[in-house]
Amino acid sequence: MQLMALANALYDAIFSGDREGHLDSIFDRLVRFTETHFAAEEEMFRLSGYPDAENHTASHEMLKTQVQEFRTHLGNVDRTLLAIEVTKFLKRWFEEHIQTEDKDFGRFLNAKGVR
Ligand SMILES: [Fe+2]
Ligand SMILES: [Fe+2]
Repeated sequence: MQLMALANALYDAIFSGDREGHLDSIFDRLVRFTETHFAAEEEMFRLSGYPDAENHTASHEMLKTQVQEFRTHLGNVDRTLLAIEVTKFLKRWFEEHIQTEDKDFGRFLNAKGVR
């Protein structure tokens, strides 16, 4: 899964000692990835008439806000601590989101005969 790969790249960047341009570009990819992934999922909510679209979209918005906030703080806090915090946060958030909300949407699609 691409997001886990990005979270791991973030973590690796800390321990490789390459903290200069590296973290910034990984963060940018992270932001772009989440936005693209969520937009595609939300388009599917719309096309399929998913009844829980509003709540699920709100969860996506929360994560986007959180990632942007981490991005903003990248310049002015201890970057190592921030990267560890972000990596842990993302892994936890995504595992939970995929296992609950994305799974519910998957079940809805299956029930509609979409695979
Ligand atoms: Fe989702
Ligand atoms: Fe998803």
